[in-house]
Amino acid sequence: MKIGIGSDHAGFELKEFLKDALKDDGYDVVDYGTKVKKSVDYPDFAEKLVKGIQSKDIRMGILICGTGIGMSITANKFKGIRAARCCTTYDAILARQHNDANVLTLGGRLLGDELALEITKIFLETPFLKGRHLRRVNKIKKIEL
Ligand code: RB5
Repeated sequence: MKIGIGSDHAGFELKEFLKDALKDDGYDVVDYGTKVKKSVDYPDFAEKLVKGIQSKDIRMGILICGTGIGMSITANKFKGIRAARCCTTYDAILARQHNDANVLTLGGRLLGDELALEITKIFLETPFLKGRHLRRVNKIKKIEL
């Protein structure tokens, strides 16, 4: 699966770790930056990545800032994007099963590397359950129009 990853300076180190780990696992990973650890603005990188989803260059994305909150607020402004900030593996399971989230946001200042990787792999591998959840996601899509 082709996925995107992006961060600001506060998520940079976790982004580099996850990018390498996911590539080792066989994912095709597009890095939307930031490419160096100097201070940057998280909305710029959220926008680049979600445009990759909108244009279908990538299927899903991972965005990392200090808390995951700024990335989530920004990503959710864009049509077709359902970004979920996950701090636990259970968040990741339900964000996929119930919400069909297509962007995972993580807090680089909150999560250790291994927990972040576990959350990420679960997010990428858990299918949407559809059924009654599809009806609800369709209502979100109607609000966006
Ligand atoms: C940067 O200091 C920090 O504000 C940012 O990474 C993020 O946590 C915002 O939500």
